[in-house]
Amino acid sequence: MTDGGTYTLPHDLPGEDERLTLMSEMLDPQLFFRLTQAGVAEGWRCLEVGAGNGSVSRWLSGQVGPAGSVLTSDLDIDLLKKIDLPNVTVRKIDVTTGDLGSGYDLVVARALLHHLPERHAVVARLADAVRPGGVIVLEEPDFHPVLATDSPTLKEFWKGWLVWADRHQIDYFVGRKLPAMLVAEGFDEVRAYGETILYRGDSLTARYLEATMRELHESLQASGFIAESVWSDAMTLFRNDGFWSWQNSYVTSIGRKSPTRQPA
Ligand SMILES: C[S@@+](CC[C@H](N)C(=O)[O-])C[C@H]1O[C@@H](n2cnc3c(N)ncnc32)[C@H](O)[C@@H]1O
Repeated sequence: MTDGGTYTLPHDLPGEDERLTLMSEMLDPQLFFRLTQAGVAEGWRCLEVGAGNGSVSRWLSGQVGPAGSVLTSDLDIDLLKKIDLPNVTVRKIDVTTGDLGSGYDLVVARALLHHLPERHAVVARLADAVRPGGVIVLEEPDFHPVLATDSPTLKEFWKGWLVWADRHQIDYFVGRKLPAMLVAEGFDEVRAYGETILYRGDSLTARYLEATMRELHESLQASGFIAESVWSDAMTLFRNDGFWSWQNSYVTSIGRKSPTRQPA
């Protein structure tokens, strides 16, 4: 969830900085590949929302060069303030209500919309910020692969996790919904690609999963949706380097704004 007070993983949670670092290491290669495929080039004017530690904005800064610019933003800009690059501007923006500006060649968001109950309205706001002919790139989770695990313990864990998420208005199946939303917002050439990591216990992905679950342990325990024994067995599997299983898929949706789309 969002609006600063209710976002489930605020930056001041112990370990959140490290968790975001793991997230960037895990997801940056796929997103950089897709952004390149989407045509990011020198001179582009870009907006990133919910940028976390800014790893994507830093990369964009190098791609767009001195003639381009990147406005990087988040509800909490403590980590973004560390960016010192001449073509990057840091701004605190609540994507649900704040002024996003307009006329961007690229608007990008990763791992943000699933947290926002008002995600449909936010997609419309992001779409408005793209210039006619410009590009939007949205990467969000879709949790369908996690239930395909061979481990009954982990299956039980993920089932409880998904109920917990639903109660917090987190949509872990939003990845599959975004392409149709982009078409409805007047984007052409809409395509989407899912990448699912088959992770090994004790790997980068397993450490990211463990860090996430440890940060949320209290809330998960209080919810009653995951028994304590199931939680601790799952943590043991995340550390077992003989164990392999599916991570959730991350779906990257790309579209080009129709040059004739009328503003909403
Ligand atoms: C899961 S993190 C993802 C960070 C980054 N996009 C990445 O993929 O590495 C979600 C981020 O969204 C931010 N966020 C949550 N609600 C927001 C809102 N309403 N407006 C802007 N940012 C928000 C959080 O502060 C956090 O940095």
